Amino acid sequence: MTIRRAVVTGTGSALPRTRVSNADLAARVDTSDEWIVERTGIRFRHIAEADETTSTLATAAARTALAAAGRVPADIDLIVLATATPDQTFPASATLVQAALGIDDCVAFDVAAVCSGFLYALQVADSMIRASAATRALVIGSETFSRILDWEDRATCVLFGDGAGAIVLEADEGDGTRGVLATRLHADGRHNQLLYVDGGPSTTGTVGKLRMKGREVFRHAVTNLAAVMSEALDAAGMAADRVDWVVPHQANARILDATARKLGLAPEKVVVTVDQHANTSAASVPLALDAAIRDGRIRPGHLIVLEAMGGGFTWGASVVQL
Ligand code: COA
Repeated sequence: MTIRRAVVTGTGSALPRTRVSNADLAARVDTSDEWIVERTGIRFRHIAEADETTSTLATAAARTALAAAGRVPADIDLIVLATATPDQTFPASATLVQAALGIDDCVAFDVAAVCSGFLYALQVADSMIRASAATRALVIGSETFSRILDWEDRATCVLFGDGAGAIVLEADEGDGTRGVLATRLHADGRHNQLLYVDGGPSTTGTVGKLRMKGREVFRHAVTNLAAVMSEALDAAGMAADRVDWVVPHQANARILDATARKLGLAPEKVVVTVDQHANTSAASVPLALDAAIRDGRIRPGHLIVLEAMGGGFTWGASVVQL
């Protein structure tokens, strides 16, 4: 008997041209390279120029992922784009990507789950592929958080960056050992005032700025992420020692370390890009995945765990056999 699963056949990413160091930020707000590195592990972030938007970065990442998968845009019948910073309130940025890629007809929509957005998008695309509602999907995380940062607030503006990551996810009829093996998602809206944007179309009529109670977010992140990773591994029937790589949401190096420790995973198995990209919200997991595939750390046959947590709170983990 064959099992229909969604397999990852290509990855891609895109970063804005401008790279900003901690020292550059220290010239703008009362902070220092030392404080940022010690508390977060962040050294650089990329910040979008006026001509770089969530959809242009997403399109560039999608093109690279398509090339890696050996596919052309016309092969795609589903685009799911995770973002909290769309180009416009509507239409969905996914349709802007669709138009830029020249795809005449496909299903295209955005998913909003902030930093967990890529995990949510992956679960949606995986479910649609397994239900035969799609065959070849682009799953993209893309953000321009620089546009919603309060550049006067040193406690938040140093933490985030812009970028995009994409994967091609394709239906595969086989023995079921490859592909997305299990995903587990959660949300707990009781905490939606710990990490939020203070504006929106239906309230202020403005875009708003990001606000966060960093210390409380930190506490929840480690507990939730360790729990959901265990849950997803159990659902996949995999023990933690089978995992080749964890590809976490890149919020803070200390969260990555603490979560790995809680699960008994060696730090060498954790992909870290937060030093180079900072927190790129929904883009961070596919950006880190693409970086680790391109530099040869993650290879075909590896078992990987993707995980993320973000505003809402929302959080999730996915176990993928490459
Ligand atoms: N530079 C220098 N000092 C700063 C600063 C900065 N960029 N940001 C804050 N501070 C100061 C604060 O004003 C405070 O000073 P005070 O003691 O005089 O009031 C001091 O540093 C400690 O602030 P606090 O917020 O308690 O620091 P912290 O140890 O909790 O570290 C974070 C702050 C944001 C790095 C940490 O809470 C964190 O990483 N949280 C998780 C955030 C996250 O990843 N969110 C996204 C999840 S998707």
